[in-house]
Amino acid sequence: MRLLIDDADMGEIRRLYDLYPIDGVTTNPSILAKTGRNPYEVLKEIRGFIGKEADLHVQAIARDAEGMVKDAYAIVQALGEATFVKIPCIPQGFKAMKLLKKDGIRTTGTAVYTPMQAYLAAKSGASYAAPYINRIDDMGYDGIHVAKEIQDIFEVNKLDTMVLAASFKNSQQVLELCKYGVGGVTAAPAVMDKFVNNAAITAAVDVFVKDFEKLAGEGVSMAEL
Ligand code: E4P
Repeated sequence: MRLLIDDADMGEIRRLYDLYPIDGVTTNPSILAKTGRNPYEVLKEIRGFIGKEADLHVQAIARDAEGMVKDAYAIVQALGEATFVKIPCIPQGFKAMKLLKKDGIRTTGTAVYTPMQAYLAAKSGASYAAPYINRIDDMGYDGIHVAKEIQDIFEVNKLDTMVLAASFKNSQQVLELCKYGVGGVTAAPAVMDKFVNNAAITAAVDVFVKDFEKLAGEGVSMAEL
């Protein structure tokens, strides 16, 4: 399962890349707006840091297919071929995905709330479909169940599109989809910070260090022996 950061803050991206095995970064217009900076300036900085091969997902803004295609060309030209253009799963979006597929530009079907949207994105040639787990939960449905249904639909129809689940509120939701074998998840820094967040784990490591220090002296580790 690919693991991506859903954020555009360079400080957070650097911090999480340093710690975890991260495969890339996803953004959306709201995430970019939070930076208060020129979007291309931010996105080029992210691309420069993660490298030209890593996944970067950037959303098209236009509401009609022709405009989405133009946005997609501009995005890929500025940020490289490893950039997935996020296209909203609306009727004009499916048209854009079909056109972009022909042109070899990779897309991620976004704003996915229903399995039907994901199915249509896959049939239209999207590389990923991104169900919004938390937002679906907030509407009174079960976001994890929807993501699993989408995974099943892709498998049973032999569609090579992958689920890139998004909009998480906790690490358990991420783990649940990891167990189910979805293609990827993208999580905000606050959710990633809860991946390993258990006092018992910290306490176990503290005891090991203290026991060793009794033997070797305070602040001494294997490298200093
Ligand atoms: C990703 O594709 C979405 O834009 C994003 O994860 C939405 O997350 P949110 O519901 O936390 O805003």
